[in-house]
Amino acid sequence: MTIAVIGTGNMGGAIVRGLIKSGTCDPKDIICTAKTENTLNKLRQYDASLRVSCDNKEAARAADIIILAVKPWFIGDVIEEIRPFVDLKRQMIISVAAGITLKDLTHLLVPDYEQYEMERIMAEAEEREPRLPESFAEPVLFRVVPNTAAEVLESVTFIASRGATGEQVELVRQLFSTIGYTMVVAEKLIPAGTSLASCGIAFAMRYIRAAIEGGVELGFRPGEAAEIVEHTVKGAAALLLSQGTHPEVEIDKVTTAGGITIKGLNAMERAGFTNAVIEGLKASK
Ligand SMILES: NC(=O)c1ccc[n+]([C@@H]2O[C@H](COP(=O)([O-])OP(=O)(O)OC[C@H]3O[C@@H](n4cnc5c(N)ncnc54)[C@H](OP(=O)(O)O)[C@@H]3O)[C@@H](O)[C@H]2O)c1
Repeated sequence: MTIAVIGTGNMGGAIVRGLIKSGTCDPKDIICTAKTENTLNKLRQYDASLRVSCDNKEAARAADIIILAVKPWFIGDVIEEIRPFVDLKRQMIISVAAGITLKDLTHLLVPDYEQYEMERIMAEAEEREPRLPESFAEPVLFRVVPNTAAEVLESVTFIASRGATGEQVELVRQLFSTIGYTMVVAEKLIPAGTSLASCGIAFAMRYIRAAIEGGVELGFRPGEAAEIVEHTVKGAAALLLSQGTHPEVEIDKVTTAGGITIKGLNAMERAGFTNAVIEGLKASK
């Protein structure tokens, strides 16, 4: 299986590193493209066996799976460039570009798609076979939304698809599980997922920043406070992930009647903590 990553920058690079580190792909089966020699050289330095090139067309032609990882505003131009070299009967297309929908991808890859869809509707009404060109193929498309923790292979990644079989969805899920946790969702849940997991990184950072500032007021040096808070948050998440417990169960374990933890929690709630988090999530969506 050959994978082409079109646009191997931060996200494309994280995907490539995940695929290699997990042993999912041999580097020689991954083709990476970028715009500048500088980025291509960094990829060569990372792994000399990677197939590295500026040629998107050749990369697309040679791949079984094409991962589009350029900035969203370049997606239209890149698809137009590679379209003549893409075989939709054979290849799967995955886009990680934020805000580019499966419908956008369909129309960019098959510009006459609406016409074919109309023909299928008419054929169904007239109870006949649709008259579609020999070259027509229903594209197998994936819209994938990782978050910035992909950099350390700890992404939360949402996967929505169109025209894919269960096996193809599972294959793509496995590919992205190399950069962290994955969840297959209906596309309509992507905005909510983006708020919770992509913007969620920033929300979690704000808690961490606030706790560091509090730690300094309590007497720790900033560097010490940062390390304490970062490890505390990591430990809290690890407790939940390893035991599958609800946060309130873990809270109960550290909250004694009339003790200091409940005093702290109640002071935070009086300042609107839970409400602030929920309002922030809703505003981001
Ligand atoms: N970074 C994240 O955490 C994150 C999270 C979720 C989704 N995404 C999505 O991932 C995509 C990439 O974001 P990024 O942060 O990785 O951006 P990035 O670091 O700027 O990477 C984009 C890459 O695309 C290359 N490129 C630009 N034009 C190209 C072309 N015509 N042909 C081939 N390659 C081209 C650039 O090459 P040069 O380096 O040579 O200029 C660069 O390496 C975006 O659509 C973004 O929405 C990113």
